Amino acid sequence: MVQLRLPPNSRIEKGKLYPSSSKGPRMKLFHIYRYDPDSKDNPRLDTYELNLDECGPMVLDALIKIKNEVDTTLTFRRSCREGICGSCAMNIDGTNTLACIKHIEECKSDIKVTPLPHLYVVKDLVPDLSFAYSQYDSIQPWLQSSEDPPPDKERLQSKEERAKLDGLWECILCFCCTTSCPSYWWGGDRYLGPATLLQSYRWIEESRDEATGERLDALEDPFKLYRCHTIMNCTNTCPKNLNPAKAIGEIKKKMVERVG
Ligand code: SF4
Ligand code: SF4
Ligand code: FES
Repeated sequence: MVQLRLPPNSRIEKGKLYPSSSKGPRMKLFHIYRYDPDSKDNPRLDTYELNLDECGPMVLDALIKIKNEVDTTLTFRRSCREGICGSCAMNIDGTNTLACIKHIEECKSDIKVTPLPHLYVVKDLVPDLSFAYSQYDSIQPWLQSSEDPPPDKERLQSKEERAKLDGLWECILCFCCTTSCPSYWWGGDRYLGPATLLQSYRWIEESRDEATGERLDALEDPFKLYRCHTIMNCTNTCPKNLNPAKAIGEIKKKMVERVG
């Protein structure tokens, strides 16, 4: 079940229905979460009917059509439209994913679209990621080396060293995984969550980085890393087919290896 973080003393109301002006054999209803903190109204689910013969194939196409042609107040983030920027992350049909790579046809009946769960909402489908970004910043996600880079070429690594970063560098920081993680829902103020931990492992595995020990020291804490209980929601939901749970397991292994 999607765990939305609602404003205090509020509930989700039934919203307005926007019927389509054109009809055809492929009609679809989209129930979309609407909330404007400035209005003081309860959140609501508005329903938009679309003729899919007049709409692109992805859920993001539907949202853009609604915003352009039906209701300009609908608010959501998007940029690349090809699963690269991570900005269109939201919950579609009960699963966190990217609206730009989610086919409408994959959803069997009406489509429910809500923001990423367990985050405060800035407006409609736009979650407040400030805290998640500050957690990402806390792992110092940049190369740390006492040596200056060579003046005329890149810092090199072997093919084997580079291969260790596969499955990590592809992360687009969409936070679908983090916001699907029950441990993060319940302890996200102290647990870093799968997205940030996968990124942390990306730097721990980086052969050109000299701060591995310090990075592991910083995670040696009862909450930041060890709140992961291997529930696997993160890996199941990642729209880039990455495995944050495995990355977290690898960090835990490194913790044990350096002690023993
Ligand atoms: S691991 Fe996957 S779900 Fe998590 S932030 Fe990266 S791309 Fe998104
Ligand atoms: S494996 Fe860990 S990080 Fe992933 S959902 Fe489960 S508790 Fe969260
Ligand atoms: S718009 Fe960039 S990932 Fe969807």
